[in-house]
Order: sequence, then C-alpha cells, then structure tokens
Amino acid sequence: MGLKLYRYINFNNKKVMVKFFNQSLPFIYILFNFFYRKFLVNPDINDKEILQFHKSGFTKIDISLKKEIEEYKDKFYINDKNQKNNSKKKIFELDKEYKKNLAIKIKKKIAPLITKLEKYFNCDVFISDIGIFRNYTHNDSLNLKVSHYGNHFHQDSYVMTYSKLFINLMDVNDDDGPLEIVPIENRNSFVKSFKYKDINNYNLSGDKTLIKKNLGKIGDCFLFSSPQIFHRAGVPKNYRDNMRVILVAIPKKISKELNKIDNEKLFENNFEIFQKFTKPYSIIKVIRLFFTHLKHKFNG
Ligand SMILES: [Fe+2]
Repeated sequence: MGLKLYRYINFNNKKVMVKFFNQSLPFIYILFNFFYRKFLVNPDINDKEILQFHKSGFTKIDISLKKEIEEYKDKFYINDKNQKNNSKKKIFELDKEYKKNLAIKIKKKIAPLITKLEKYFNCDVFISDIGIFRNYTHNDSLNLKVSHYGNHFHQDSYVMTYSKLFINLMDVNDDDGPLEIVPIENRNSFVKSFKYKDINNYNLSGDKTLIKKNLGKIGDCFLFSSPQIFHRAGVPKNYRDNMRVILVAIPKKISKELNKIDNEKLFENNFEIFQKFTKPYSIIKVIRLFFTHLKHKFNG
C-alpha cells in the first residue's frame, strides 16, 4: 500500500507538484524552501528591497553598473568556434585580464547588496558564476515544445539559497524581450489562469497582469529567486544582451575554501563547486543541507 501510494504521488514529478502546490519543483525542494523561509531567513532587517525580495521573490536593486558596462561593452566578443550551431543564445567572451578587472568592479559595486543578503540568509553570500549572453529572436517562440533559452515559464530546479542577479547590458524595452516573472503572491492565480501543467504545457492566453517585466536601462540590476518564482526570458524583436550573476548563500565557517576562487574564474562554469549547496541530488542531502543551515544559524 505504502509503495503504491509513493508510486502514485511520485515525489519527483513536477507536474504532480504543480497540481498540489502550484510549484514546478521537486517535492523535497518545495519542502526545503518552505521551512527555510519559515525558520532561516531574516526578512525584517528593515530594508525595502529585501522585504520585497522575500515577499515577492524579486526586486529591483538601487545600484547601477552603467559606468562599468559602458567601459567594458566593446571588450565583449562572440567566438563562433565555441557556440553551438544555430543557437539562439550566444555567449560573450572576454580576455583574461578584463575578466579579472570586471569581476573586481562588479564585486565592489554590489557589495552593499551582498551585505544585505548575508543578513537575510544568515550566511556568506558568494558570486558563483558570471555569464554574459546575447539572446536572439526566433520565429517559433509560441511553440511550447521548443525552448531556446528558458523562454517558456519555469522555475529553476535549485533550492532557494540560489539567486540570480540580472544586469542589463542595454536599455530594455518591451521589444527587447525583457525577463518576465510571476511574483510569489501571484503564483496560485498564474497556475490557474494559464492552466499551467509544465514548461511545455500551458495556455499562452492567461491573465497577463499577473506577470511583471524587467524593463529598464543599461546597468540596471534585478534580483530574483529563480527557484521560487515562475519566470521566462522574453523573446526580443532583434536581440537582448544580459549579464547574469549567480549568488549562492552558504553557512559561514564552511564557506572559507570558496573564497579562493579567482576573479577571472567567475566567468567560467563553477556549477560543480557549488552544486551541493544549491542543487543537492538526494533527499538525504537536501535534509542534511537544511540542518547544516539550521545549526549554523543557532551556533553563530
Ligand atoms: Fe530559469
């Protein structure tokens, strides 16, 4: 009986999770995030941005990297050898020395945000990766079976200690395919209105007022909890350039070795180093991660 029930519910089936919890995440991550929000974060640090980030899962940040982006923009280049054929998303590259200097400048500029997030998460907050991309237009954007760069609504399969900071590399208007997000408080209505089943199966003509767009100017910063909120990359009429900074919250004390990642290395894929803190692969590992956080909160 127990086994049959387990099979029926299938805890890893995101479709079932949408049905029961209006979330497209593995069950154990939904549970982690629920208890993490309840017992581990400090939303009441008297800061407007953190409050909104906690309540809605996203916030504009009152920091502009306009100066830095304008200084480095002409140093980004696309190396076609390293791109997948026919890809609608291209990765910008940067010479080693520029990587290092830009990473230092980004770190310096977003330091006030990191300090606030460290208070919110009770953790050290690290940049794990910096990526620079160009998303191109394509004519199958309404086809839910085809996704070129996360351009259909989804949640990222991570626990909520993983957050994304988007930095506009150009002014972004409606035609430039801005990031679209569904605030936490609209999640239930969104699933209902769009008859959301999974990333490949929902109704495109739901209530669009439930969705917010990240419009803005070059250098603007937008923080969002991609595991907690439904989001998608809009499809531009031409192209959109974006920088994505991944932020990871790790309990103090166990985070020391991670300080050693070289600045220029931040532009590489560091997923493996951070995976156990952001995307644990088994139920036991998720539970262990939760209790590690809990222990560090109460033992300082
Ligand atoms: Fe995503």
